[in-house]
Amino acid sequence: TQTIEVGMLGLGTVGSGVVMRLTQAATKIEQTQGIRLHLAAVAVHHLNAPRAVTLPIGTRLTDKIATVVTDPHIQIVIEVMGTLATAEAAIVAALQHGKSVITANKDLIATAGPRLIALAQRQQCDLFYEASVAGGIPILRTLTDSYATDQVQQVAGIINGTANYILSAMTATGATYAEALAAAQRAGYAEADPTNDVSGLDTTYKLMILSQFAFGQGLTISQIQPQGITMITAAACQQAAQSGWQVKLLAQAQLQVGQLYCRVAPVAVPNTLALSQINGVQNGVAVRSQAIGQSLYTGPGAGARRPPIAS
Ligand code: HSE
Repeated sequence: TQTIEVGMLGLGTVGSGVVMRLTQAATKIEQTQGIRLHLAAVAVHHLNAPRAVTLPIGTRLTDKIATVVTDPHIQIVIEVMGTLATAEAAIVAALQHGKSVITANKDLIATAGPRLIALAQRQQCDLFYEASVAGGIPILRTLTDSYATDQVQQVAGIINGTANYILSAMTATGATYAEALAAAQRAGYAEADPTNDVSGLDTTYKLMILSQFAFGQGLTISQIQPQGITMITAAACQQAAQSGWQVKLLAQAQLQVGQLYCRVAPVAVPNTLALSQINGVQNGVAVRSQAIGQSLYTGPGAGARRPPIAS
């Protein structure tokens, strides 16, 4: 069995989930891959902050990112800090030191993806970021692999768990916007600062990444002017539901005569469309393509682990 040393940057909601998965899946990974993943070091902002997870014995906790990304023993760096400038500098340094990088940072991949991918290629390192869009759905590799010989015509997605949780709660229980947001924060679905979740910006970043995979065309942030859900009320959601519509924060990208049209906005989705039934923290991505036609991919899209089953 070969041991691979892993370094991690960040130990918040996502980081704690990763530590748990690495621990619980260790035996399986060893048996199926012949590899033992050893979490050598974790860099955090505050060394003494309370943690949702205990680190394996022998894992070093540090507040110095540089010691992780330059450590000659570490081969893989997992970046789950969620910040922009610090995360980019850390990933660049890790790649420059010959490490492969795994990140869930959608803001960063949406805005700096092409230059990081180019750097990884030059360094002959891997850069994986499947978790940056719809964490529980392997949508990026599906678009790459399964649609390789097809032509995607349209992508429509519910890709922010927090916004969908808020809209679903307002519709189902009449909870106020503030109550529903607080519940999403308690469940660990929202970003540390939930502004991007509710303004549509988080959805926009994810749509930028999805579009690159679906259409091979990048979008800049200025091409999408997102509308968020901050002005949506429980009354409006419930009124729509009574008439057979569900209010959803929808990301849409469509190819028309070679031109890509994009939109991020709350819309009333008719009950006849499968996307209308994606509730709570679930994400859903509907793909229409020339060869396959219409497909829907669903799964949880936020939080550290499997959400509780709705009763
Ligand atoms: N805050 C994000 C969401 C986390 O609610 O979808 C996953 O990107």
